[in-house]
Amino acid sequence: MARTAIVTGSARGIGKCIAMTLASKGTNIAVIDACPIEGIQETADEIKATYGVETKAYQCNVTDANAVKECVADVKETFGSVDILINNAGITRDGFLVRMKEEDFDAVISVNLKGSYNFFRECVPVMSKQKFGRIVSISSIVGLQGNACQVNYSASKAGVLGITKSVAREYASKNITANAVAPGFVQTPMTDVLPEKVKEQYIASIPLGRFGQVEDIANCVAFLVSDEASYITGQCISVDGGMHM
Ligand code: NAI
Repeated sequence: MARTAIVTGSARGIGKCIAMTLASKGTNIAVIDACPIEGIQETADEIKATYGVETKAYQCNVTDANAVKECVADVKETFGSVDILINNAGITRDGFLVRMKEEDFDAVISVNLKGSYNFFRECVPVMSKQKFGRIVSISSIVGLQGNACQVNYSASKAGVLGITKSVAREYASKNITANAVAPGFVQTPMTDVLPEKVKEQYIASIPLGRFGQVEDIANCVAFLVSDEASYITGQCISVDGGMHM
C-alpha cells in the first residue's frame, strides 16, 4: 500500500519541493499550509497531475492545536494511514535582542516550535499503532550555531532538535524514527528578500560556494524517510554546503 505523508508549509518553497519529491516516489501527500486555500489546492493538484498519487489540500495553521488534531484525524480517515510527517512550516521575525518585540519572539516560537510539537503529538499515536513512522523536522544551521538578530528563530530551531531527539528515544520501540535536517542558506521566497550585500556575505562563508536549492533539502528528507534510512534516528543532518562543520 502506498505510504502517506503530511508535509506542513508545503504550498510553496522547500515544503512544496519535499512534497513533490516524496510524491515522485509514490507517496500520497497531505498538503498543509496556512496561506489561502487556492494556493494549497493548486499545489495539491499539481502534485497529483505530475505523479498520479492521491493528494488533499488542508488549510491549517500549525499553531492551532485543535485544527491540527482535526487535520491529522482527517488525513488518517482519508488516506488510511499517517506514515510520514515532515515538520516544515516556519517563519522569521528578525531583530536585535533588545529591540525584538515580545510578540515577534512568541510568533516564531509558536509557529516553528509549538507548531512542530502539535503535529508530533497528533501523529505519533497513529504511527505507534501502525508500528511504523518516519518524522523529519526542518531545523536550521541557526539552530546549531546561533545567529545575530535571530534569538527567536535560533531558539525555535534548536528546540525542534530537542523534540526530535526526545521522540526518537521515546518511540524507537514503536519503529518510529525522528530526525532533523538543518539547511544553510536556501534560495526561496524567505531568503529572496535579503539585501544583495547580505547574500554576498553568505556566499563567501559557504565552502561549496553556492546557495542551496530546494531540491538539496528535499533529497535529504526523502532519504531519511526511505527504507534505506531505517537505522538512523535522533540525528540532525546539515545540508548547507559545508557552512557548519
Ligand atoms: P517559505 O516562507 O517559502 O515557506 C514556508 C511555508 O510555511 C509557507 O507556505 C507558509 O505559508 C507556511 N507557513 C507559515 N506559517 C504557517 C503556519 N502557522 N501554519 C501553516 N503553514 C505556515 O519558507 P522556506 O524557505 O521554504 O522554509 C521552509 C522551512 O525551512 C522553514 O521551517 C524554514 O525555517 C526552514 N529553513 C529555510 C532556510 C532557507 O534558507 N530558506 C534555511 C534554514 C531553514
